[in-house]
Amino acid sequence: MKTDNIKKFTYGTPYSTGAVVKEIPVSEGTPDRFTYDKETETFSAPLKKADNIYGLGETVRGINKRGWLYISNNSDNPHHEETTNSLYASQNFLLVDDGRECYGIFIDNPGRVEFDLGYTDPDKMSISIPDNDTSFYVIEGESPVDVVRSFRQLIGKSYVPPVWAFGYGQSRWGYKCADDIRTVEEKYRELGIPLDMIYMDIDYMQDFKDFTVNPERFPDFENFVSEMKSKGIRLIPIIDAGVRIEKGYDVYEEGVEKGYFCKKENGDNLVAAVWPGKVHFPDFLNSAAREWFGDKYKVLTDIGIEGFWNDMNEPAIFYTEDHLNEVFAELKDYENKELDIWGFFQFTDLLMSISNNPEDYRRFFHDFDGVKVRHDKVHNLYGFYMTRSAGEAFRRNVPDKDILMFSRASYTGMHRYGGVWTGDNISWWSHLLLNIHQMPSLSMTGFIYSGADIGGFGGNTTEDLMMRWIEFGIFTPLFRNHAALGTREQELYQFKRTDDFKNLIELRYALIPYIRDSFMKAVNEDSMYMKPLSFEYREDERCREIEDQLLVGDSIMVAPVYEQNKTGRNVYLPEKMKMIRFRSFSDYDEEVLEKGDHYIKAELNEVLVFIRPGKELPLAKPARHVDEIDIENLVVLY
Ligand code: NOJ
Repeated sequence: MKTDNIKKFTYGTPYSTGAVVKEIPVSEGTPDRFTYDKETETFSAPLKKADNIYGLGETVRGINKRGWLYISNNSDNPHHEETTNSLYASQNFLLVDDGRECYGIFIDNPGRVEFDLGYTDPDKMSISIPDNDTSFYVIEGESPVDVVRSFRQLIGKSYVPPVWAFGYGQSRWGYKCADDIRTVEEKYRELGIPLDMIYMDIDYMQDFKDFTVNPERFPDFENFVSEMKSKGIRLIPIIDAGVRIEKGYDVYEEGVEKGYFCKKENGDNLVAAVWPGKVHFPDFLNSAAREWFGDKYKVLTDIGIEGFWNDMNEPAIFYTEDHLNEVFAELKDYENKELDIWGFFQFTDLLMSISNNPEDYRRFFHDFDGVKVRHDKVHNLYGFYMTRSAGEAFRRNVPDKDILMFSRASYTGMHRYGGVWTGDNISWWSHLLLNIHQMPSLSMTGFIYSGADIGGFGGNTTEDLMMRWIEFGIFTPLFRNHAALGTREQELYQFKRTDDFKNLIELRYALIPYIRDSFMKAVNEDSMYMKPLSFEYREDERCREIEDQLLVGDSIMVAPVYEQNKTGRNVYLPEKMKMIRFRSFSDYDEEVLEKGDHYIKAELNEVLVFIRPGKELPLAKPARHVDEIDIENLVVLY
């Protein structure tokens, strides 16, 4: 690997985060192009009019990140919209490209980092790192693809899931018992819609305790796992970060005894509350605790479970015992008070401050391999190290099997142990577009096995939103329909146009050889599975502003419809391409279209795919499950 195009600068004594896998000698001075203001701990660089800024993985807004303030601070925010600054993940990689020259930067800092990308001053980019020691990498390259490759070589190879994990998965928070899950399988089978995974949300556990199964709702769980497997379905249980405080619960008892939970200043274990009620947080930054927690997954892998999703690992905090007591004490003052309107707002702010309170993240500490570190300084590592705990354990305990693993919170480096889903989105058309924007940014930062909650997690979805979202989801490596408790049921059999849904899911299965091949190429060649057009068509100015068409692998461009009541859309072709308008894997129109602007019809059940000149798109005959796909006999479109 060539590393002479990467320079590393350090400030103070940076934490060893595990983000990078290559040693780069430390350079003297300030990162090229940047000035550093020690007082405000801010790096600044001028932005040229032509500069586009790419990167940051899972964040709000467009593919070009210019013009907003992004804050790396993993946050549980199920109501995120355009003005949100922080989401569930933090990837501090940026790529600045004026169309001719480009460079990348990576800030390896696990605490809060603020990226002001032309927000305060449109002609300036500033990166503030409030109170931490940091490593700052500058990556030079001929082109964006080149810079991304170097960055990815720096951070190591991306996680590869089992092949069946490229299939379709049905999830919902609210499947309460084995029969609920059997119903899902039956309904999909009756309609002949392919399905490979059913996800189990927190309801499968006994009182939301990790590594337990409720014996009344899931009697003989081991048999149930094999019953479902005999029907071609893998069950994928959730694991939460918080461990319920309950006498006699082995994970709690052992964690307390071995001192593996995060502690407060006074040495007591922090008491927080999440779904299980009061919990302690395992100290995943302590390698012994990490190994201990990772080994617990064995309880489930031993009985045939082959995949997991790690949740609530920012960590999300509904409240801490200490802060709640403070709030109760303060509330007493309000009891007999005449509230003016400002007093009333202070009162509501006090109540609103209970969950995910920044102060709470300063109340507890890690034993980061012998060094006591306050949580907020390494906050963004928590989800990464939880997933690392699982990933390392799988290599130890189930070395012959690939285990599906993806997480909600993440930081650079976690991409070697698992994928991500983009957290709690909402059944909004704008969140479908957000999903389109997030995918190339995630690919860039090594999180190739990723995807959103298709159809939207919060809020009530509609049949047309689900269909359009599936039409984009067909191309995302993680392809999962998931929804929140209390929302409209959104399994595909709940809708009227089940034939169309069947055709679309079958199309995904027909495309799996191509998707998996492109995925493996992105992993092996440190390239991107999904790319913005501007990364490929460097000479074409128009491509620098296109954010709703993506290149998927080497052969195709997709142009999803993401607005309600639309039966077509404008598409820009940077070169002559063959358009395929799919209604199913075997029913499609073909048309060769010239370079330029086109308005293209796409009815609700139609998917637009464009094959690049000289490239091929193989299609398999779909099957009900991924491992039944005949990958030898492919139809090749070109
Ligand atoms: C939050 C997760 O993001 C969501 O996917 C899950 O359904 C709920 N927790 C309940 O476990």
